[in-house]
Amino acid sequence: MNKKNKIITIAIDSPAAAGAGTQAKFIASEYNLLYLDTGKIYRYIGNLRLKNSKNFNLNFIKKKINKLNINELKNKHLLEDNVAKSASIIARNIKIRNLVKNFQLRCAYNPPSKYSGSVLDGRDITSVIMKNAMFKFYITANIEVRAKRRFLEFKKMKKKVNFNDVLKSLKYRDYLDKNRKHSPLKKTKDSILINTSKLSKKACFYKIKAIIDKKLKINGNI
Ligand code: C5P
Repeated sequence: MNKKNKIITIAIDSPAAAGAGTQAKFIASEYNLLYLDTGKIYRYIGNLRLKNSKNFNLNFIKKKINKLNINELKNKHLLEDNVAKSASIIARNIKIRNLVKNFQLRCAYNPPSKYSGSVLDGRDITSVIMKNAMFKFYITANIEVRAKRRFLEFKKMKKKVNFNDVLKSLKYRDYLDKNRKHSPLKKTKDSILINTSKLSKKACFYKIKAIIDKKLKINGNI
């Protein structure tokens, strides 16, 4: 059996602010997995576009991605709403998507050996990047709940925000992400639907954990 078969691989897709990142972090910590928030890669490129409009081209992006260190994705500036919108715009480009594919595949199937596997979240993880993942989840919540959560996150970061602007921005990104030609956000048939609208973070995690533990026990992993 090669390493690819032995490690635990978990793929998550979700619209923005549905709670996927929170759940992915809980999962990573519970099962000792490498966590990659793939949206941060698109935000990183979206930010390059905002900062370097003159030399923003495929070659420039390729050079940046080749040197990209996972720690650079922790930059708080990437959480800004204008960066998120820019990310959704550049994410429609198939050439840009292909540039970041290998980085994601490496994290998914060859995480550093200290980890027991990987968990990735994004928009095309279950449908394109990790089609063969051991577990696939589609995490969602209704748009008002998501907007409220994002609004409160911005408030916590002391950002001056208006609820309706947050709602509008999420709707705009949902539209772009679900209707684009390449790798649109969708629930694959083999993904388990988790609706977080009425669940606390912990309740949601216990639901996911029960699903994972059941299969790992059957497979003899735990
Ligand atoms: O998850 P997050 O909101 O940070 O993602 C920012 C944007 O990056 C998304 O709205 C989407 O357009 C894009 N993205 C993507 N594919 C992924 C992850 C994110 O197209 N796997």
